[in-house]
Amino acid sequence: MQVLIAGCGYVGTELARRLHAEGHKAWGLRRTPTDLPEGVEPIAADLLDPELSQHLPPAEMVVYAAASDAGTPEAYRAIYVDGVRNLVTQLHKRDGPPVKRFIFVSSTGVYGDADGGWVDEDTETEPDSFRGTEVLAGETVTLATPFPSLVLRLGGIYGPGRNRLLRMVAQGQVRCPGDGPIWSNRIHRDDAARALLHLLEIPNPKPVYLGIDDRPTPLCTVYREVARMLGVPEPTVDPARGRDRSNKRCSNRRLRDSGFTFQYPSFREGYGAMIAAGEAEG
Ligand SMILES: NC(=O)c1ccc[n+]([C@@H]2O[C@H](COP(=O)([O-])OP(=O)(O)OC[C@H]3O[C@@H](n4cnc5c(N)ncnc54)[C@H](OP(=O)(O)O)[C@@H]3O)[C@@H](O)[C@H]2O)c1
Repeated sequence: MQVLIAGCGYVGTELARRLHAEGHKAWGLRRTPTDLPEGVEPIAADLLDPELSQHLPPAEMVVYAAASDAGTPEAYRAIYVDGVRNLVTQLHKRDGPPVKRFIFVSSTGVYGDADGGWVDEDTETEPDSFRGTEVLAGETVTLATPFPSLVLRLGGIYGPGRNRLLRMVAQGQVRCPGDGPIWSNRIHRDDAARALLHLLEIPNPKPVYLGIDDRPTPLCTVYREVARMLGVPEPTVDPARGRDRSNKRCSNRRLRDSGFTFQYPSFREGYGAMIAAGEAEG
């Protein structure tokens, strides 16, 4: 496979590394493509550049994994909607093979509140923030392209270097919400990259997949179990801390039914490996 990773950051770089290790060709495109793994070809370019086509390689597979670097509606619109649209236009202009698969990395933020219930790919999307709204608009642009395309909606990504929760629990800085269970939906970086690789390879993928591990877990359970793993006091409940996010459990059944298995099926394995690697220290 020849794969362009557009917005080659935390997840994209791990995907690129795995592609190269498996003998595929990978290009990592971002504005400042430093520190890409050996064998991955860097492309310094802006996804919003109207002259982007001159930078585009002859990849027949494309993964759009760019993230906004600012938390404003304009910044979200630019990277999740305008950037996708521009890339699709520029892919038409470049010399190269037709695009066989275009994957947009989306987010579980496209769902609204489910009152702690299950959601899956057939659940109606009702974003409750501009973030979810813009990402959902990016999905719509993606699925309307003439290229065979699909979206992967990731939950909260954690892994090496993304260790904020571990460090906060280690330093006693978290409190459990007092307002009943608030479900968290996560995926380890390596499984996010593995899922993308899987979706590049399988025949006849569906248009939408959820990418979260096997065990949506109440936030407080995560805090307490991580505290136990670290050997620090368990966080207490803060009755004043209410819900500050939509409450849902995301099902990964479709991804698993497509043949995918998780290296880190829950936060226990994922954070356990990070703790063993010293990620909670410092
Ligand atoms: N973080 C989470 O918990 C989470 C949860 C659900 C879904 N997601 C989604 O998963 C995807 C991957 O996340 P991530 O954490 O791997 O992202 P990331 O590392 O934060 O960012 C990806 C890359 O996008 C590049 N980028 C931003 N604007 C660009 C532009 N105009 N042109 C070219 N490149 C640009 C950045 O590099 P430069 O600055 O060098 O350009 C950055 O390296 C994103 O779509 C994100 O929204 C993330």
